[in-house]
Amino acid sequence: MGLGWAVSFCRAGWDVRLFDIDVERAQTAAQTCLAICDSLRVSARERGAAEGSQPIDKAVSGARLVIEAVPEQLSLKQSVLNDIEQVFDPQGLVLSSTSAIPATHLASAMTNPSRFLVAHPFNPSYLLPLVELVPGEKTSEYALDTAAALLESIGQQVVKLRREIEGFVANRLQAAVVNEAVNLVAEGVASPADVDKCLKDCLGLRWAFFGPFETMDLNAPNGFEEYAQKFGDSYVELGKKLLVANPWQPKALQEIANYLAERDEDFETKRQRRDTLVTQLLNLKQQHRIG
Ligand SMILES: NC(=O)c1ccc[n+]([C@@H]2O[C@H](COP(=O)([O-])OP(=O)(O)OC[C@H]3O[C@@H](n4cnc5c(N)ncnc54)[C@H](O)[C@@H]3O)[C@@H](O)[C@H]2O)c1
Repeated sequence: MGLGWAVSFCRAGWDVRLFDIDVERAQTAAQTCLAICDSLRVSARERGAAEGSQPIDKAVSGARLVIEAVPEQLSLKQSVLNDIEQVFDPQGLVLSSTSAIPATHLASAMTNPSRFLVAHPFNPSYLLPLVELVPGEKTSEYALDTAAALLESIGQQVVKLRREIEGFVANRLQAAVVNEAVNLVAEGVASPADVDKCLKDCLGLRWAFFGPFETMDLNAPNGFEEYAQKFGDSYVELGKKLLVANPWQPKALQEIANYLAERDEDFETKRQRRDTLVTQLLNLKQQHRIG
């Protein structure tokens, strides 16, 4: 995710420094960052610089912002945040890329937790513009607003959570859909290919442009309130029958793996295709000013 953040800032004209405990990894990531900017057709004049930087005090010296993106372990993240605090400008903003750990826990050992919050990105973050901002108990309004303004200035779409919650928002929504998808296969209701089709050829087509509330608003002639009145009860009834809390069944997982293995494409080819398609979709959204 460190690399993804680097690309997002670098292509917006920021100079970025990457620090990693593995020195070579930071150097390679800096080169990859520039290569990705090239592949996104960002010219050398538009983008900033990117470099691997050691040691940590040199990496953060003079920076406006530091983003932590080390593996998802509370003690490791706390120790790295402590290292950052020792050497970073006390007024500077510190963000964590954690996918799940509450900012309050991460900041529990920080001297100045008011300038710290979670900024949860999505992979690949240079293509998926969403960032969830999750303040901890001691995060200042100023830090939250500064982080939001800064991320919006580089083209990110910011969601501000009003309180800390496990999984934040997007992953909770994703978990509801994905868990039910696995269970529909486990229960023998539909094949993995058909479950995928329901997203690709229906729900996903709408959801790429309209969220669930906007979709409901369009699905009744008099809008959302009519929809809620007509269908609210059936959603609640159906909700009681969904199997979203079931454990994932090995037999279903095998069936899904077999379906995916039928495609004769390597990982890199699939990744490039995804990136191309997502880029085209983003361009279309931009043309229609949907954001
Ligand atoms: N991968 C995703 O899809 C994704 C999405 C959103 C958020 N995140 C979050 O981003 C964070 C990073 O995830 P990732 O998938 O990029 O992990 P990763 O393992 O790919 O990268 C982590 C990097 O941290 C470096 N590192 C380890 N210890 C370090 C230390 N003490 N000091 C400096 N560098 C150190 C490692 O060498 C490695 O390069 C995690 O908190 C994860 O939950 C990941």
